[in-house]
Amino acid sequence: MIRAAITAVSAYLPEYVLTNKELETMVDTNDEWITSRSGIKERRILRDKDKATSFMATEAAKSLLQKRNIKATDLDLIIVATVTPDFQYPATANIVGDNIGATGVWGFDVQAACSSFIYALEAGTRFIESGKHKKVLVIGADKMSSIIDYTDRNTCVLFGDGAGAVLLEPSTDETGIIDSRMYSDGSGRKSLYQKAGGSLHPSSIETVTNKEHFVSMDGQAVFKIAVVKMADVAEEMMTRNNLKAEDIKFLVPHQANKRIIDGTAARMGIDASKVMLNIQRFGNTTSATLPLCLYEWEKELQKGDNIILTTFGAGFTWGATYIKWSYDSK
Ligand code: ACO
Repeated sequence: MIRAAITAVSAYLPEYVLTNKELETMVDTNDEWITSRSGIKERRILRDKDKATSFMATEAAKSLLQKRNIKATDLDLIIVATVTPDFQYPATANIVGDNIGATGVWGFDVQAACSSFIYALEAGTRFIESGKHKKVLVIGADKMSSIIDYTDRNTCVLFGDGAGAVLLEPSTDETGIIDSRMYSDGSGRKSLYQKAGGSLHPSSIETVTNKEHFVSMDGQAVFKIAVVKMADVAEEMMTRNNLKAEDIKFLVPHQANKRIIDGTAARMGIDASKVMLNIQRFGNTTSATLPLCLYEWEKELQKGDNIILTTFGAGFTWGATYIKWSYDSK
């Protein structure tokens, strides 16, 4: 059986830092509330009006190609995970392919809210396992600031912008993506969604006036199910693969809320020192959280390390992936 392996990671973060202090001047909130409820201190914002998700995805892709020393035309497929595509169509993957000069390389977008990246990784893995493709670029990128209402304190404190990318190639040994389990339950769709702009409620003066193009979230409803499902699927991944807490080098959780992450780690019996956590600096970057973690912790990962990725997002969507890391970072 051909196994897929992550062979390189990269990321891009916009420079502008939006702090809790600055948010205090924008909405009725405070640093203590945001930190205690979510764990977030600051987030990055792509302020340039002419730059969108494809810009961040392109920057992440370019630095990955350089790092791995391969050409864009060496790629077989580009998958972009995003809920904030540049356009409804064409796919952001097409734009990234054009930006990096990936002539003749096909691509598509995957949208599964905060689970977009893990779903995209799953799709990319299958293309490698099929033997049809040798190099699949999977990018998670979101310009959440483009769909956030900065007068709504319930949501504007939570999200940030960013991009991360991984390269998938056939594994040459026993390491790589070992197991995964994806879930979805559409009955939860109204707990977290963008009300308008789709075919049900196309853009109109009314939808704009009613602020229906921004993130609409019932935070408590999402929290209650997220804290259970993210832990359930992470525990399922351990059980299915006979992994004990001590076998796991790192838990790589979606960064939506530190309390959800703590709950998942506790259920897995994993110490906080083994949890990749950067929510305090980047907030919830939706599709970018997992590759951003891998990028920041890359130097601490050694070949053969067991890591578990897990997410929960709108939809509802959730999942977990078990990876035996494939390389020592230089
Ligand atoms: N500052 C101060 N007060 C606030 C703020 C704020 N920024 N936001 C809300 N409040 C108030 C509320 O209005 C409420 O006041 P009230 O009691 O007078 O009505 C009070 O704080 C408590 O609000 P809760 O909703 O109970 O706060 P909670 O402890 O649930 O935390 C949070 C809110 C952080 C949003 C949490 O529910 C959460 O993280 N939910 C899950 C988010 C998530 O996981 N999303 C999934 C991924 S996102 C994706 O898929 C795109």
